[in-house]
Amino acid sequence: MTRLIGIYGASGFGREVMSIAREQYSGERTEFVFIDDAGGESTSNGHAVVNWSRFLSRPAQDRCVAIAIADSRIREVLTDRCVEAGVPIRSIQAGNVWLGDAISHGEGAILQPFVSLTANVRIGRSFHANIYSYVAHDCVIGDYVTFAPRVMCNGNVRIEDRAYIGTGAILRQGTPDKPLVIGAGATVGMGAVVTKDVPPGVTVIGNPARIMEKR
Ligand SMILES: CC(C)(COP(=O)(O)OP(=O)(O)OC[C@H]1O[C@@H](n2cnc3c(N)ncnc32)[C@H](O)[C@@H]1OP(=O)(O)O)[C@@H](O)C(=O)NCCC(=O)NCCS
Repeated sequence: MTRLIGIYGASGFGREVMSIAREQYSGERTEFVFIDDAGGESTSNGHAVVNWSRFLSRPAQDRCVAIAIADSRIREVLTDRCVEAGVPIRSIQAGNVWLGDAISHGEGAILQPFVSLTANVRIGRSFHANIYSYVAHDCVIGDYVTFAPRVMCNGNVRIEDRAYIGTGAILRQGTPDKPLVIGAGATVGMGAVVTKDVPPGVTVIGNPARIMEKR
C-alpha cells in the first residue's frame, strides 16, 4: 500500500506542478496521479490520469490532493469537494522558493520555482504563485488569489479574495496606512502597471493600468 498524491488538473499548469510535487513529496511508497474529471483513464508524462471517483477508490494507505487549476472559482468548488470527502489538501512548494521572516499562507498554496515571499506577508488559502513571482513586505493577500508568471507585488499591497494578476504585472507599493488595494475578483491584465487601487470585479490593463471597458 502506498501514499497517493493527486494533482487536480492535468493541463499545462497541472503538468508543471506535478514535477514539483514529485520532488517535494518523493518517497518509495508514494504514487502520484493526475485527477481530471473530463478525461477517461489514460496517462500523462508517465502518470495515470483518473477521475475523482477513481481517485477515491484507488488503493492507498492515505491520500491527499493539490489543486493545480488557475480558475479560482473552480479551485474553490474542488476544495469543497475534497473537504466533503475528507481528503486533505496539500501545498506544493518548489525547492528554491524563498520564504523570509513572518510569512504565513493557508492550505493549498502552489508556489512555483523562483517565487519569493519576502517578509511579513499574510496569505489566505489556495494561493497560486506562478514562476518568478514575488510578494514583498507587509502585503496581505486573501483566499483563492492567483498570480500568473513574474508578477511583481511590491510592499504594502492588499489583494482581496479571488483576484487574478496576469503575467508580468507590476503592483505599485502602498504605505502602512494606505495600502494599494486590488479588489475582490478583479483581474489585472498581463503587463499592467497598477498605480492606483483597483475596484472589485473589474479588469485593468495598460501602463498606467485603466479599467478595460466591456464591449
Ligand atoms: C486582460 C485580459 C484578462 C483580457 O482578456 P479578454 O477579455 O479575453 O480580452 P481580449 O483578448 O478579447 O482583448 C480585448 C482587447 O484588449 C487588448 N488586450 C488584451 N489584454 C491586454 C493586456 N494585458 N494589455 C493590453 N491590451 C490588452 C486586446 O489586444 C484587444 O484589443 P483590440 O480590441 O484592439 O483587439 C487578458 O488579455 C490577460 O491579460 N490575461 C492574463 C493572461 C496571463 O497572464 N496568462 C498567464 C497564463 S499562465
